[in-house]
Amino acid sequence: MSAGLRIGPLALDPPVVLAPMAGVTTRAFRRLCRQFGPGGLYVSEMLTARALVEGNERTARMLRFDDDERPRSAQLYGVAPGTVGEATRRLIGDFGVEHVDLNFGCPAPKVTAKGGGAALPVRRRLLADVIAAAVRAGAAEGVPVTVKFRRGIDETLLTAVSTGLIAEAEGAACVALHARTAEQRYAGDADWAAIAELKAAVTTIPVLGNGDIWEAADAVRMMAETGCDGVVIGRGCLGRPWLFADLGAVFAGGEAAPPPAFGVVAGVMVRHAELLTEDEGEYSGLCSFRRHAAWYTQGYAIGADTRRALGTVASLAELATVLDAADPALALPPEAVRMRRGHTDGPRPVRLPDGWLRLVDDPTPPVGAEILISGG
Ligand SMILES: Cc1cc2nc3c(=O)[nH]c(=O)nc-3n(C[C@H](O)[C@H](O)[C@H](O)COP(=O)(O)O)c2cc1C
Repeated sequence: MSAGLRIGPLALDPPVVLAPMAGVTTRAFRRLCRQFGPGGLYVSEMLTARALVEGNERTARMLRFDDDERPRSAQLYGVAPGTVGEATRRLIGDFGVEHVDLNFGCPAPKVTAKGGGAALPVRRRLLADVIAAAVRAGAAEGVPVTVKFRRGIDETLLTAVSTGLIAEAEGAACVALHARTAEQRYAGDADWAAIAELKAAVTTIPVLGNGDIWEAADAVRMMAETGCDGVVIGRGCLGRPWLFADLGAVFAGGEAAPPPAFGVVAGVMVRHAELLTEDEGEYSGLCSFRRHAAWYTQGYAIGADTRRALGTVASLAELATVLDAADPALALPPEAVRMRRGHTDGPRPVRLPDGWLRLVDDPTPPVGAEILISGG
C-alpha cells in the first residue's frame, strides 16, 4: 500500500517520522520506537545551534545514538546562518549525523519575543539564508536538510506556503508542517487543509503532515485527505511507542493491533526506564521516566495509589514493585484511545519584537533569540 518516501538519499518505508520532542525523543525513546517500527526516521531532541558550536556539554550529551541507529537524525534550532551552517558541519563531522532537521516552529514566548522560533518565517530573507547555510553544509557531505514549521503566527499572518517555497528553493530535501499556528500552540485541532494547501504549492520535494495522529488509521487518513507524502508523529506515541508497529502494519495494508493489556505496557515501561538509566544513571533516569509513566498509564484503571507511586518512583526495583501490584489483564477502554497526552496548552497571543513585520527582507539575525531553549 505504501510507496515509501525518499528524503534526499534516505529511503523511508513506511513514510513515517518520529517528531522531534524536547525532553522526549532521547536515545532511549528513539530506540524503543525503532524497535517497534523499523524503517522510519527518528529525530533527536532539538539542539540549539549556538550551544553546539560553543561546545556546550549538555548539548553534546543529547547527541547520543545507538550503534545500530541509522540514519542518525538531529534537529537544530538557530537564527544565524553562520552558526547554523557551522552547527550542521559539527553534527555531521563530530557526531556522524545523517539527517538534519531545522526547527522554525517553536512558540515559546521568550523565543518569539526575540524573533526566534516560530517568529522567524516572517523574515523571509533571513529564513532563506539560514536554510541555505544548513543545506550547503549538508550537501558537502551528502546529508539532507529538512525544514519543520507551523502554519504561521496566527490566522492573520499565515506563512506556511511562503516558508515551504523558500525551503524548496534553497535546496531543502523535504518540508514538514505542524498544522497549527504559533498562537494555537497545542490547542484545538490541527488544520489538515493547510497541509493540502502546502502540498499543492510545494511540488518538487516531499511534504510531510504533522498534527493529531493518535492512531495509525489517522496517518492513512491524513495522507488520503491532504495528498501529503508522509507523516510526522508527535504526541500520539507518548506512552504508546508501539504506535510505530501499528503504522508499519497499516501502511503494509494490514491492521493495527488492539491496544495492549496493561501487563504488556508494564513490560515496555520497565524497558524504557532501563534505557533511560543507561544514559542518565538510575535516579535521574527514573526522574525523567515519571512523566512517561503518566502517559503510559493514561486511561488504564490502575488506581490512584499506583499512579501516585509512579509519580515519585526513584529506582528500577521500586518501579518493578509498583507495576507488579497492578492487574496485568487491565484493558484500555475504547474512550481512552484518543485521549490527548503531552502538551495541550493554548491558544495564546504571540509576542513578536517591535517592528518585526517591517523587516521581512532584512537579513540581519535577531539578537538574543538563541538562548538555550527547548520546544516546538
Ligand atoms: C513535549 C513536546 C516537545 C516538543 N518539542 C519540539 C521540538 O523540540 N522541536 C519541534 O520541532 N517540535 C517540538 N514539538 C512539537 C512536535 O514535534 C509536533 O510538531 C507537535 O506535537 C504536533 O504533532 P502531534 O499532534 O502529533 O503531537 C514538541 C511537542 C511536544 C509535545
